[in-house]
Amino acid sequence: MDQAFKRLGPFVHPLVYLILPRSLVKLLRKHKKIVANRVENAKDFKQRDYFTSFIQEGKSMPNTNMDWILAQANHIFIGGLDPDTNLFWSAILFLAQHPDKFRKFAAEIRGKFKRYEDIEDEELTHLPWLSGVIDESLRLHTNGSFGQPRVTPGATVDGHYVPKGCGVQTSIFAAFHSERYWHKPHDFCPERWLPATHSDYDPAFAKDVRECFRPFSAGTRSCIGQNMGYRQARILFAKMAWKLDWEVVNPHEFHWERDLRLYATWVRPHPRIRYKLSDVAKAAAAEGGRENGEKLVEV
Ligand code: HEM
Repeated sequence: MDQAFKRLGPFVHPLVYLILPRSLVKLLRKHKKIVANRVENAKDFKQRDYFTSFIQEGKSMPNTNMDWILAQANHIFIGGLDPDTNLFWSAILFLAQHPDKFRKFAAEIRGKFKRYEDIEDEELTHLPWLSGVIDESLRLHTNGSFGQPRVTPGATVDGHYVPKGCGVQTSIFAAFHSERYWHKPHDFCPERWLPATHSDYDPAFAKDVRECFRPFSAGTRSCIGQNMGYRQARILFAKMAWKLDWEVVNPHEFHWERDLRLYATWVRPHPRIRYKLSDVAKAAAAEGGRENGEKLVEV
């Protein structure tokens, strides 16, 4: 919606704030304030982090001012936070909604690691079910769904000449949900990503056009956090799958796709998830003399 209003010009663009829900506008303001505070009081932060060098570099570059630095800082703050949240939220929910797939995914992790402490990212990169769950969640619950706008230098695209200076954009959401490219495009099917040699491989997915799967976009301005995003997801889901079983408590109170709203970022429904210790975690806890636990959490 923000993108559409931007195209109508600088005078019309601010009107988008009349349409966005008040809670979201409040949240955006709060977020801007936090980032502004971090940028303006940079010297008070003793610990170096990504923002430290970014602010220093920004200040030393010609033609930059505080507004520019703030805009970039906002971009990084949202870019690094929101996609991860989408991925974590959706994978946890989809697994909870598909117990048969959850069992296969969890069995892969629990079979690979005898102890929770042994789970290291180096061992996780080639686990087919884990990778399938991550990619399938990125496909279904897309990030940057409207696509990233680019100005064309003048080029032929799919047989049509697009003149120099035109704005072009590909909707990631449309591409990732199109029947032209995917078998069962709206279903959660991590098995579509399995190699043909895997015992759970299903040839029904052989015609999926994986080339259109670019959740981190493409080209020189594609996501700089791609490796970090994958790494965080692998470690989180592997550790969760080793330690926990989980299920949706209120399946009839929401429909994840129907109830999703996209403004600047996704606004999601509120499934409630019950987590229980897995059998392997219970056995480890019993060995260590600790108690078994159960927790109900809203994601
Ligand atoms: C699952 C995780 C993530 C997904 C799916 C994702 C997706 C994306 C997408 C689609 C873009 C737009 C690229 C373009 O304009 O072509 C982007 C840009 C960006 N992302 Fe990510 N991202 C993720 C995680 C992260 C993380 C963890 C960070 C930082 C720590 C990050 C930082 C950025 C930045 C700074 C940009 C702008 C790059 C530029 O304009 O040159 N992202 N991301």
